[in-house]
Amino acid sequence: MIKAPEYVSSIKPYVPGKPVEELERELGIKGSVKLASNENPLGPSPRAIEALSASLGSLNRYPDGGGYYLKGALSRSLDVKEDELILGNGSNELIDIAVRTFLSPGDEAVMAFPSFVVYPMSVKAQGAKAVEVPLMDMRHDLEAMADVVTPKTKMLFIANPNNPTGTINTKGEIDRLMARLPDGVLVVVDEAYFEYVRNPDYADSLRHFRAGRDMLILRTFSKIYGLAGLRIGYGIARPEIIREMNKLRPPFNTNSLAQAAAAAALADTGHLERSKDVNENGRRYLYTELSALGVRYTPTEANFIYMPVKDSASIYDALLRKGVIVRPMGPGHLRVTIGLPDENARFIEAIKPLL
Ligand SMILES: Cc1ncc(COP(=O)(O)O)c(C=O)c1O
Repeated sequence: MIKAPEYVSSIKPYVPGKPVEELERELGIKGSVKLASNENPLGPSPRAIEALSASLGSLNRYPDGGGYYLKGALSRSLDVKEDELILGNGSNELIDIAVRTFLSPGDEAVMAFPSFVVYPMSVKAQGAKAVEVPLMDMRHDLEAMADVVTPKTKMLFIANPNNPTGTINTKGEIDRLMARLPDGVLVVVDEAYFEYVRNPDYADSLRHFRAGRDMLILRTFSKIYGLAGLRIGYGIARPEIIREMNKLRPPFNTNSLAQAAAAAALADTGHLERSKDVNENGRRYLYTELSALGVRYTPTEANFIYMPVKDSASIYDALLRKGVIVRPMGPGHLRVTIGLPDENARFIEAIKPLL
């Protein structure tokens, strides 16, 4: 019988949640709220939906493999050149492509723990080693991450803001890291939630990219732009890095609907601002209510809140039965996406008796 290599068979698979409709059927409930995947509770921009409708008639055609219009729009809005951009089937695919492009079996990639679960999975699938460095005070400990860099280290991941904690690293911290790193380590700065950040000290990764550093900045249309279902994200790096990654990118990796909707969403700054406001109001409400319940949540710069609970599996389960879907994180924490006002209130009412 065919066998996968040991470095593949030893990977713990990502377990997808059941569809909400199926859960409701099994539990005999209706009208549940999904606060589990850090999606935009407002939905996509109406302009993205219009662009989708306008594209449906040409679904018989392959998409534009070069992403000409979307890259043009991104290039103008970010002031980067088109050959400094790469589109991915979600930023998730770009993590995979970067790993396959720059890591050989036996190489090492440094990352924080806990952080986005896909980094170690992707690195291990390449036969490389994921070197995980514990967070300090819920934030990436960039000094400790630089300490474990060896001649075998080819990549270093920073989720900024971090998932699941919602914390950021500052300008000064990233500057110090970049000054310490030897040449030949690709720093992947994953900014899936950067649009939500309010802290003026937030690191400016584009500055390091413009200074010619080995940096890949990843962003996505899945979060504040509300297009998670379409799967589209982008990366920014020097043209030499993008050129190598493009060799491994499937020719039609982003579909035509996603490209059209993303370009329209990018132009809808009103929807972006409304989405930030909804998040900000929800954040304040949840802070007040969680504080009143004595929950020591981690202050967030993103659209989700990480909080310690005694037994996350049983609280998760009890919330589920009340129609509130959150994400358990290890035995002692929950991660809750900030939702619409009534969704946040549902969550608070449901968790109150469980604490
Ligand atoms: C830190 C981080 N990076 C990347 C992603 C993947 O996003 P995408 O939908 O663009 O693949 C997520 C999604 O949860 C995330 O939290």
